[in-house]
Amino acid sequence: MKIAVTGGAGFIGSAFIRQLLADGSDVEVLNLDKLTYAGNLENLASIQQDPRYRLLREDICDAPAVTRALDAFDPDAVVHFAAESHVDRSILSPAASIDTNVRGTFVLLEAIRARRKGRFVHVSTDEVYGSIEPPGRADESSPLHPSSPYSASKAASDLLALSYVMTFGLDVVVTRGANTYGPYQFPEKLVPLMIANALDGRPLPVYGDGRQVRDWVHVDDHCRAIRAVLAGGRAGAIYNVSADQPVANIDLVRRIIARLGADEALIRYVTDRPGHDRRYAIASDRLRTELGWRAVHSIEEGLAATIEWYRANTAWVERVKSGSYQEYYERNYGSRTSRSGPGQPDVALA
Ligand code: NAD
Ligand code: DAU
Repeated sequence: MKIAVTGGAGFIGSAFIRQLLADGSDVEVLNLDKLTYAGNLENLASIQQDPRYRLLREDICDAPAVTRALDAFDPDAVVHFAAESHVDRSILSPAASIDTNVRGTFVLLEAIRARRKGRFVHVSTDEVYGSIEPPGRADESSPLHPSSPYSASKAASDLLALSYVMTFGLDVVVTRGANTYGPYQFPEKLVPLMIANALDGRPLPVYGDGRQVRDWVHVDDHCRAIRAVLAGGRAGAIYNVSADQPVANIDLVRRIIARLGADEALIRYVTDRPGHDRRYAIASDRLRTELGWRAVHSIEEGLAATIEWYRANTAWVERVKSGSYQEYYERNYGSRTSRSGPGQPDVALA
């Protein structure tokens, strides 16, 4: 089988390619990636010499380049990960999210429509449902209430992709995954940022009161879910991907601190993210009953292994934190007020 992967140098896309090739699948993979700040070829070092794999550095918004690439490779399926994936960046500068997530998805859909061949797996997010009041969980027919430019752009691209099933008869399936963690995640996201800062003895910036809840799934489980949907998902269907492991942010940060033997005094409560969703919670009964998927990793074991990975790969972390990361960090955190707890004075976030 020939699979074109977009965004395969990012966190989940690279895990997906590594997993596909490691399983000895009879597969050929083309990775279409623009290599933005989030794309890192080091994530693919273990497979870059594999004859079943090749990379094309392209922007998915470049329609002629996408058409050329798909025509030359002639894939049986396109698995679409490429995105501007970070909520905070989408708040600081929304344009890139709209370009890549909405227009880029449109370009891919048009290229596949012209080819009249191949399945399109659109990798989306539980953030499209917005904040869910406890004890509820969103299923695939729940209304969409995105709160950030990022989640709105993903919701828009989901609907666009599904419209191509109805209007043009394309073979599209959509996955909506929960918060994903594991090795090789860029340290702008909560888990790797807290691990990297704790390892350096730097402050741990917790937004608002830290009681927001996220539902954690290990990257390898997420990738197996996407593979199950690629192989057996119904055209036009949406599949939520959750391991049912909700944790409040502050509790997750405390687990990381405890595992690393770091100091809880590093925790700084900082100005909240605008439009911050309080709680994500999704039901993935459809994925389990129709496709037999189960999460293998518990958050306890998966988080411990992830922390060990970051501890063993400090050189990788230092390399991705060089360059534009420092500028981003200053932009996102520099103007936030910071305190060590309720009633405590504000101090600078060093
Ligand atoms: P990431 O930011 O780590 O990687 C994104 C990749 O896309 C990078 O390799 C980047 O170079 C590439 N890219 C960006 N713009 C591009 C463009 N215009 N053309 C070609 N390539 C481009 O993202 P991730 O965390 O691996 O997320 C992958 C997908 O999964 C995204 O669609 C995201 O919305 C979705 N998702 C992520 C999570 C999560 O917790 N990380 C959870 C659910 C769904
Ligand atoms: O739910 C799926 C989504 O999960 C994906 O679609 C996104 O691509 C992915 O980035 C992630 O979005 P979140 O906004 O939930 O992830 P992030 O790691 O940025 O933040 C997780 C939680 O931690 C969120 O409540 C905000 C909080 N947070 C985050 C950072 C970076 C902090 O308190 N401090 C921080 O410094």
